[in-house]
Amino acid sequence: MDCPRCGKSCFKPASEVLDQVPGIYMACPHCAPLPAVDHTAPRSRCKIHHLSRCEACNKAPLDLVMMEALEVLVDEGLRDRDPPLRSVGTPLVTVGYPLPFAPRLGKDSLILLTDRIDSRAAARLLRIPEIKGVIRGTGVPGVAGPNAKGLSWELLAGCDLRSDVIQSIFGELLIYRSQSQVHIEFSRKDAPKIRRLEGLPLSGRFVVDATCGPGTLGLTAALAGSKRVVLNDIWLPAVENTMMNLEANRDVLGIDCIEWAERPNRDALVGDEPLLVGSASGSCDFQVYHGDLYHLFPHTGSADIVLVDPFPGMSFSDLQKGAWAKKIVII
Ligand SMILES: C[S@@+](CC[C@H](N)C(=O)[O-])C[C@H]1O[C@@H](n2cnc3c(N)ncnc32)[C@H](O)[C@@H]1O
Ligand SMILES: [Zn+2]
Ligand SMILES: [Zn+2]
Repeated sequence: MDCPRCGKSCFKPASEVLDQVPGIYMACPHCAPLPAVDHTAPRSRCKIHHLSRCEACNKAPLDLVMMEALEVLVDEGLRDRDPPLRSVGTPLVTVGYPLPFAPRLGKDSLILLTDRIDSRAAARLLRIPEIKGVIRGTGVPGVAGPNAKGLSWELLAGCDLRSDVIQSIFGELLIYRSQSQVHIEFSRKDAPKIRRLEGLPLSGRFVVDATCGPGTLGLTAALAGSKRVVLNDIWLPAVENTMMNLEANRDVLGIDCIEWAERPNRDALVGDEPLLVGSASGSCDFQVYHGDLYHLFPHTGSADIVLVDPFPGMSFSDLQKGAWAKKIVII
C-alpha cells in the first residue's frame, strides 16, 4: 500500500519494520563517537561543529541534523543569531522506539515540529536528507471533548506519516499516525497504559476501545487474544489512522480481510452519532466507528470490557453508571 499521506513508500507492514528496529539507529564500526551536547547552550558554544555523516553508513547523529536545521532557521531570520540547539523545536523520529542511546538517522527518518517556521524555511529544511516532514503547531491536535472543536497542526512540507513501536507482554505492534492531525505519544518502555492492559482478562473477550486514537489499545487487546474488538473515536483522522493500523499490522494480528463500510464525510471531522467506518476479520473480529462514545452502546451491545482513555482533564466518570460492560476501565 502507498503512503496515504504522500503517496510514496513511507507505509510499510509492521512485520517488515519490526525486524529492522532498533538496528537502524545503531552506529556502524566506522561511526565517530558522539560528544555530550548541552542543548541549552548558545549555538557558538555547543561544540558539535565537527560532527558529520558517517562515510561508511551515511547515517547522521540526531544533533547534527538539528544543528543543520538551526542554521536554516537562523539564516531565514526565524531564530536569534546565537540560539541554543533546543530552540529548533521537537524532533519526532520515525520509527519511534524506546532507545537507550542517541539515534543515528538515515534518510527520511525525522519529522520536525515547531511553532516558529514558515513555508519557505520548511521547504529548505526538507533538503536535509534525514528530514521527511515539517509541521507547524502548538497545543494538542485532536478533540478534547464532545463539544470541543477539532484541532489540526499544519503540515508545511513533506510527509507527516510516522510510526511508533508499541511493546507489551503480548508482542509488538507498529502504530502509524498522521502526525499533524493526531496527538503525539512517544514509544516508551513500560508505558503505564500498556501495563494497565496487561493486567486485564483480555483473552477470548469482547473489548471496546471507546476513545481509540490511532488504535493502540484496541489492537493490543487483539494481540492479547480478544475475540472481538470495537474501536471508536470522535475524531475522523484518528479513525482513519486506526484503519491504516489494521492494515499495517495485518500479519502480526492474523487479519484476513479488511473492508471500508462507508467512506466518511470529510466535512464532519468531529463525529456525533457513531458511523461504522470499517471492519476486519481473522483471528479477531474488528469494527471501527467514528462517533461520540456516549452514543456507542446501542451499536456495540454489552461488552466484557470498555476501555476509555481520555486526554488529561476530560472526565468520563458518569459512564460507570451504564450497563454497557461488565468492566469500564478508565485508563
Ligand atoms: C488520549 S487519546 C487516546 C489515545 C489512544 N488510546 C492511544 O493509546 O493511542 C484520547 C482520544 O479521545 C478522543 N475523544 C475525545 N472525546 C471523545 C468522545 N466524546 N467520544 C469518543 N472519543 C473521544 C480524542 O479524539 C482522542 O483520540
Ligand atoms: Zn508519506
Ligand atoms: Zn557509520
